[in-house]
Amino acid sequence: MVDNQPYPDLDLQRRWYAEEIRWNAKLQSERLVKAFATVPREGFLGRGPWHILSATQPGGGYTKTSDADPRHLSHNVLVAIDARRSLNNGHPSFLASLIDQLNLRDGEAVYHVGCGTGYYSAIIAEMVGEHGRVVAVEADKTLARRARRNLKGYRQVEVLSADGFAHDPGQVDAILVNAGVTHLSPVWLKILKADGRLVVPLTLKNGGGQVLKATQSKPSWHARFISSVGIYHCVGTKSRSAGSRLREAFASGGAEKVRSLRLDAHERNRNCWLHGRGFCLSRRSS
Ligand SMILES: C[S@@+](CC[C@H](N)C(=O)[O-])C[C@H]1O[C@@H](n2cnc3c(N)ncnc32)[C@H](O)[C@@H]1O
Repeated sequence: MVDNQPYPDLDLQRRWYAEEIRWNAKLQSERLVKAFATVPREGFLGRGPWHILSATQPGGGYTKTSDADPRHLSHNVLVAIDARRSLNNGHPSFLASLIDQLNLRDGEAVYHVGCGTGYYSAIIAEMVGEHGRVVAVEADKTLARRARRNLKGYRQVEVLSADGFAHDPGQVDAILVNAGVTHLSPVWLKILKADGRLVVPLTLKNGGGQVLKATQSKPSWHARFISSVGIYHCVGTKSRSAGSRLREAFASGGAEKVRSLRLDAHERNRNCWLHGRGFCLSRRSS
């Protein structure tokens, strides 16, 4: 953890940062605003200076901060984890809006796929509290080690170095997939509890796509696309056929009309927007 003594106004800066996120992400959850005001981002990104990327001017590339003042991190910007790989600590208001969509409650269990260095796992841990459980999984072994170290103070968080597409963490209330996939993991669909929520970016090769929110309401699933996205790809999920089905679906338009996720076997029909293997995103209401 960074020694913040020379920055007496850091807490105040972090509260302003949380307020910016509130309005940029239209947050519903007061607890989420508080989490952003509380969790020290500098505790997850190593010592500065840091390389910062503006989400509104991404073409300009990274800007290096002039020094290691942790107040630089309390802004609504991306921060490089590994600039050479364009791997970033994600955009705060974007991730905040996705976490808000999970409607997390005290004591719930969450699976966080692609936790990076753990900052957003810590935010999720604040949302579910000490009696909750967060399984944070990271495919990159070095990052998983960093996340484990950074999250040591959170007893409700377990960090795994594994493939989050294939690993089964047991039953959970919510899943946040923090990387783009071309199709849904059967594991995610199996481990969600009765009113479980899944938020997952469905993306093409270039990282662009849309974020899907699926909510289980037994026996069916509601599904909606909630925002567009450009995000790092989830490794181990490459399927050429799923990728081309997704590309065709996006190209045909009408993603905003998706209403349900169907897991039952059925013939492709005019309601099927993305008739995938093992799942179908349908315009039919659930
Ligand atoms: C967009 S980054 C998110 C990093 C982090 N959540 C953040 O914002 O600081 C995506 C992360 O997902 C990880 N990842 C990619 N595929 C994965 C997989 N199959 N299982 C677990 N983690 C994966 C990457 O190594 C990377 O750290």
